[in-house]
This record gives sequence, C-alpha cells and structure tokens, in this order.
Amino acid sequence: MIKDISNLPAKLEALLTAQKNKNSEGKVADYIPALAKVDPNHMGISVATINGNVIGAGDSQVPFSIQSISKVFGLVMAMNRIGDDLWQRVNMEPSGQPFNSIIQLEWEKGIPRNPVINAGALLVADVLTSNYSASKLAFLSFMRTLASDDNIFIDKKVYQSELTHGSRNAALAYLMKSFDNIQSDIPEVLSHYFTQCSIAMSCQQLAKSLLFLANKGLDPISQKSICSARDAHRVNAILSTSGMYDQSGEFAFSVGLPAKSGVGGGVVAIVPGYGVICTWSPPLNTFGNSVIGTNLVSGLAEELGLSIYH
Ligand code: DON
Repeated sequence: MIKDISNLPAKLEALLTAQKNKNSEGKVADYIPALAKVDPNHMGISVATINGNVIGAGDSQVPFSIQSISKVFGLVMAMNRIGDDLWQRVNMEPSGQPFNSIIQLEWEKGIPRNPVINAGALLVADVLTSNYSASKLAFLSFMRTLASDDNIFIDKKVYQSELTHGSRNAALAYLMKSFDNIQSDIPEVLSHYFTQCSIAMSCQQLAKSLLFLANKGLDPISQKSICSARDAHRVNAILSTSGMYDQSGEFAFSVGLPAKSGVGGGVVAIVPGYGVICTWSPPLNTFGNSVIGTNLVSGLAEELGLSIYH
C-alpha cells in the first residue's frame, strides 16, 4: 500500500484537470428539485489517511448534500444500537434493482434486500427513531463528532424539497409497515430519513468522518471505538456489494473498493488500512452515481494500486 503521499496533491490536481468538460455525460438529480439548482461544474476530491494526512483539490471544502452517503452512518448507528437483531429485519444481498425500487419489496414480504437501498435505509431510520428519543439530533451529533466539526448542518431547503417530493419513499415505508417491519409512525420515519439525507458536508469532512471504516472501527485520530472491527468489516462488505447500487458489480470489477454514492453527486470509497477517498461532482449516470466522481475514484485507485482484491 502506498505510504508516500508527497506527490498526491499534484496527482489529485491532474485527475481533476483530466475530468474537466466531462460533466455533459451526466445529469444532475432533479426528482428532488432543490438538488437541480446546484451548479453542475463543481468538482472536488479529498483523501484522508489513517495516519492523519488530509489532501484535497478543487471544491474539496465546499459542502454538498450527502444524500445516500448518510445511509452508511445510519447503518453504523443502528448496528451499534440493536446489534444482530437488525439482520432479522433487513438483508445483506445486492438488489439488482434501482435504489428506489418498490417491486422486490412486495415479493420479499417487506424485508429490504440491503440497508443502502432506500427501503433498507428507511428501515434503519425506523430503528433509529424507535430507539432514540431524539434520533435526528443524535444523527447530527454523530456526524459532527466523526468529522470533529460542529458546523456541519442540515440544509433546510433540501429537507423541505425531499419532504414535498417524497411519495415514493412514503410508499416504501408504508409497504414495509403493512408487513409489520416498521414500528414508528411513518411521518416520523420519513422526517428522520430526509433529515439525514439533507445534511451538507464537504469531501474533506466526509473523508475524515469515515476513517474508522478503514481502521477496523477505530477512529485513528481520537483512538475512540466507533464500531466493532466485525461491524466495520460488515459495512465494508455491504458497500462492496451494494454501495454503488446496480453498478456495484462493475465498480468492484474495475475499481475494487467498498464505496457509497449519493444523488447529491458525492462518492466515498474506503481503502482499508490506508484511508478514505471522497469525490464530488453533481451530474449522475443512470444508476444515480456521479459520472466524474466515479471516474476520479477509479483513476486514483488505479494509479495508487488501491484495490482490495490485489
Ligand atoms: O431518498 C432519496 O431518493 C434520496 N434522498 C437519496 C437517494 C440517493 O442518494 C441515492 N444515491 N445515489
């Protein structure tokens, strides 16, 4: 694994330069109207290493809507809170369907395929709302602690936009409730889920906040345990098989890192034993993954030889 980071800043700049003008290949998410207003030309990358280095290029310090990347943090909180009971209510298999699909959920009696598709993340949101007296606050303070930054905020405009265009997520939640797999009231579950999705963070903050997954569950800076080594392994396994949705197979094939995308255009990739890469560029491909963000992670992983399958 590469340890010398002296030429990393130049490498990151070169990767960004090579991706300029490629954003016409994707489309900014518009099913959440507030996201459609984001400038598609933003482009950033940040690398945080477990030995404390943080290097970035482009818009690496500009906050963006983390969207589905929040599902990783929600999952860790739910695993910490209810342990293996979680796996009675949600599976750990790739879905082979779009992230917001409802079809499989009926066939499979309200048990979501995995915790990072929308159905699974809503299930996790239910675990959090029914096990915390103030789950939204608990989530925000978890993020602030992990990133060591009390300025991390909820983008109220994105939240409101999601709430008023959230019929599909409501349908997923009500369908699971009909199978007795949701305990809290649906509006409360949706409110928690939209809150965590509308948190705004930069590439730099996200990369730093996920270092524990590259370090067997231990925050390498504070030396605090964020989750067990076994759960860090499990989250990374789920991100490898499902984090890039129906492009996860191709991503494993070509890049070889546990990763999670969000429709705000962010992508995070975990490099166990080394660190975390976070990229941001709003235009998405048809799977809901950032076109340029995926290219940037792929380019860096190849150049540094970071695949976990080597
Ligand atoms: O629920 C939704 O559809 C969004 N709040 C999150 C979806 C998302 O980010 C999928 N990721 N690529």
